[in-house]
Amino acid sequence: MNNKAQFVPLTDGNEIPSFQTIWSAPSNIALVKYWGKKELQIPCNPSVSFTLDHCRTTSSVRFEKLIDKQDHVSLAIQYDGKPAPFFEPKVKTFIDRILPYTPYLKDYHLQIDTVNSFPHSSGIASSASAMAALAAAIMDLEKQIYPSLNAEDQIRKCSFLARLGSGSASRSMEGPLVLWGEHTATPGSSDLFGVRWTKAADVFKTYRDTILLVDKGQKEVSSTVGHNLMHNHPFAENRFAQAKANYQALLTILEKGDLNGFADLVEREALSLHAMMLTSSPSYILMHPSTIQIIKAVRRYNKITGLHLSFTLDAGANVHLLYPEHEAEKIDQFIVSDLRKYCQDNELIFDQVGTGLKKV
Ligand code: DP6
Repeated sequence: MNNKAQFVPLTDGNEIPSFQTIWSAPSNIALVKYWGKKELQIPCNPSVSFTLDHCRTTSSVRFEKLIDKQDHVSLAIQYDGKPAPFFEPKVKTFIDRILPYTPYLKDYHLQIDTVNSFPHSSGIASSASAMAALAAAIMDLEKQIYPSLNAEDQIRKCSFLARLGSGSASRSMEGPLVLWGEHTATPGSSDLFGVRWTKAADVFKTYRDTILLVDKGQKEVSSTVGHNLMHNHPFAENRFAQAKANYQALLTILEKGDLNGFADLVEREALSLHAMMLTSSPSYILMHPSTIQIIKAVRRYNKITGLHLSFTLDAGANVHLLYPEHEAEKIDQFIVSDLRKYCQDNELIFDQVGTGLKKV
């Protein structure tokens, strides 16, 4: 499972002069967080995520065979129908990392046209869905070149490639839940790719995630910088051990359908993530006063109503509100009447757990 060599194509495949394909990939929200990594996108601890449904990137990729083979990949990127040279460095780094596993790409020019279902400047990380959509398009080309590639191997390699672009992207292939990172409790889990996990009780397969856009701007400190600050962090080893324990505990909670246990664990995970930021050197704070006000309002609401509204945070000020579908009518009303006011321009996104990649 943890052998990278399995992803290197061994034979010459079909001759494909040109090929166009369109893939839509969702974002995902981590319940147990990936925070801290080793060389080449190997996580320091395993993570668990809900795959989202509405927050997606759709990428059309046209592969045109070049007359002369190059030693680098030729590409052009458009975002929302306009040239997007600012995305090129990230995509080039991604392509350079995956070339040992996709050597056929050197034979092609790639024209990438990408669009997000959520606003680019929404503070929602688009790298997971963007890298997942691009990896899916590349794997579709690989399937044309090597038609014997089976569906399971295709999705696994897709996750493997996406991980090399952005760690969390490895969790955007399938749903409703994905595990990434090796853990003895889950045979088949791997540091190299995400695996779908289907054992959750039904209540978690239709869970809601409403994203409160507290700050739609660029994050003050990127995730890449944040991951790096886990090197030499005084609490790093404890944090990795905590995440490992939480991973195992969360799977039990999900299997049992334990809504209170779920809320308690995912909230502590989110706050631990931000505690790492508060205590790194240099330290930084991504939560806004509104983030804290929302958290306090959520806790008051649960106390009064006995409902199961919980929150998690990504590496920013925005709040993901998680709750079961059967409580959504009441909770949606509360969100609109009491929490929407904390959002920048009153903007929020109603999303829910989804199933992953779609070929368009
Ligand atoms: C807080 O996947 O964005 O969202 O691998 O450097 O691209 P890179 O980092 P990224 O980190 C995600 C951090 C997180 C937690 C998570 O999604 O597990």
